[in-house]
Amino acid sequence: MDLSNKIVVVTGGANGIGAAMCRRFAAAGAARVVVSDVDFSAAEKVANEIGGLAIACDVAVEQDVVRLVESTVAECGAIDVFCSNAGITVKGGLESSNEDWQRMWDVNVMSRMFAARAVVPHMLKQGSGYLVHTASGAGLLTEIGSASYSVTKHADVALAEWLSVCYGRQGIDVSCVCPLGVQTDFLDDDDPIHRYLHLHAITPEEVAESVIQGMKQKSFLILPHPQVAEFFSMKADDHDRWLRGMQRLRQKLTRAKKRDAA
Ligand SMILES: NC(=O)c1ccc[n+]([C@@H]2O[C@H](COP(=O)([O-])OP(=O)(O)OC[C@H]3O[C@@H](n4cnc5c(N)ncnc54)[C@H](O)[C@@H]3O)[C@@H](O)[C@H]2O)c1
Repeated sequence: MDLSNKIVVVTGGANGIGAAMCRRFAAAGAARVVVSDVDFSAAEKVANEIGGLAIACDVAVEQDVVRLVESTVAECGAIDVFCSNAGITVKGGLESSNEDWQRMWDVNVMSRMFAARAVVPHMLKQGSGYLVHTASGAGLLTEIGSASYSVTKHADVALAEWLSVCYGRQGIDVSCVCPLGVQTDFLDDDDPIHRYLHLHAITPEEVAESVIQGMKQKSFLILPHPQVAEFFSMKADDHDRWLRGMQRLRQKLTRAKKRDAA
């Protein structure tokens, strides 16, 4: 898709990957970029910088997402691209609380369903539209340090696939962005697993560039780290071998964590 003259909404647009996407979409000639975030004042800063429109929205709350879609259509006349980007992470495995699991589910998964439910009817009426989900490499592979992140990002990939299957023939394109480490507030330098992700971390601007290129080709999977394609194919070829490799990596990183703690 060519972004010129398009109306684009980005959730989680105030920081990190979302802010870089807003700037890149504006540079690509989008008619209007709606910078949406739960942090309204930070969203306003990005919107002011690019001549966009800031709209407050907590993506975990369906009424907020409906209001975001309705206000954008009322103000801008259409939505051509909706980027479900806002996401959170909580470290931990089985010990993570049910409240944390629920929050992860709401922000990382239900938010995307609320957005699709609100925006797809507009796109069907227009006869075209583009849904972009920022999932993660963890949605195709795994995130050793967070069970809830791995599960919710897999669910996001599954939802994006389902949307593509069901609406792809009705003019709605879907892309799923699956980076490994990206240099944003997400990565915690004190954690060995995050330090490992940092080794190959790229900038949010590199992710945004990859999104623009992927959207041009209408690729379902947008992989800013090309090695994800290789790892994903290794996993599909021999799941047991892939799991053994990940078990070895986890052992190595857990030992590093214990050394840090000592
Ligand atoms: N940074 C990474 O290493 C990395 C890697 C792969 C995927 N991702 C994914 O990229 C997306 C963006 O992450 P980022 O690294 O830019 O993080 P970030 O923390 O820099 O930015 C996330 C933005 O989302 C907003 N946000 C959080 N909860 C929200 C909510 N309930 N409603 C609306 N906005 C909310 C925050 O205010 C923030 O502005 C996430 O979905 C994340 O899972 C990040």
